[in-house]
Amino acid sequence: MPILDKHALLERSPTLLLTCSLLVVTVGGLVEIAPLFWLENTIEDVEGVRPYSPLELTGRDIYIREGCYTCHSQMIRPMRDEVERYGHYSLAAESKYDHPFQWGSKRTGPDLARVGGRYSDAWHVDHLMDPQSVVPESIMPKYAFLAETVIDADYVDELMATHRLVGVPYTDAHIASARADFTVQVDPDEDFDGLLARYPGAAVANFDGLPELTEMDALIAYLQVLGTMVDFSTFTPDPSR
Ligand code: HEC
Repeated sequence: MPILDKHALLERSPTLLLTCSLLVVTVGGLVEIAPLFWLENTIEDVEGVRPYSPLELTGRDIYIREGCYTCHSQMIRPMRDEVERYGHYSLAAESKYDHPFQWGSKRTGPDLARVGGRYSDAWHVDHLMDPQSVVPESIMPKYAFLAETVIDADYVDELMATHRLVGVPYTDAHIASARADFTVQVDPDEDFDGLLARYPGAAVANFDGLPELTEMDALIAYLQVLGTMVDFSTFTPDPSR
């Protein structure tokens, strides 16, 4: 075929081959990237997804600091074995307020995208203090020191302001009440109506069972909200997508 014969021309001239390859990559790139500039949003809005509460957001920072993501992913793929084990596949909207997202692909331990509510707070305390005490064959490291590290709300409003900078819709009211919300979430005896109005469905509890507010409280508050924001008994995907 004449057109295939011409291919020899390309193969013999490195400059021509490079130029034509660049052309192909440019066209491919434009087709994939250009539409993103005109689409208003690539993420389907889903009811229930809200920004993290100040305590959950702090727990998320501890999760990242401790490198939990090196062993745990937070993305359930739409495949039968994953859905049967972990629950409904992850929606893009569920991590739209995650900066950076924690999807990952390395699973030394199980996926944690829907671990919220699967275990009690006390189970998490035992497990984080000494994973082998509840799962004897576990290779997860111990994180007992988290229960000894007392934390305060001194910088939580600034942390939230930083997340607002990258697009998380925290309002001035969220930020103004951040310090109070931080401590109210671990004290069920306090008036937490305001917290729940700002962060619907947030769990209020003394997560680690200790009198002080520790890193363990924040981390468990974060673990317990994972995957719980969307009600999948009523969720139906938008058919136009
Ligand atoms: C060296 C790898 C490794 C690291 C790092 C690690 N884990 Fe794990 N994790 C595991 C393994 C393996 C399991 C499964 C056995 C078990 O339950 O302990 C597990 C289980 C879990 C579970 C129970 C999940 C389920 O559905 O049963 C939670 C929750 C958890 N890890 C949280 C964390 C948190 C939070 C951190 C960071 C502070 C962390 N892990 C760090 C390996 C790890």
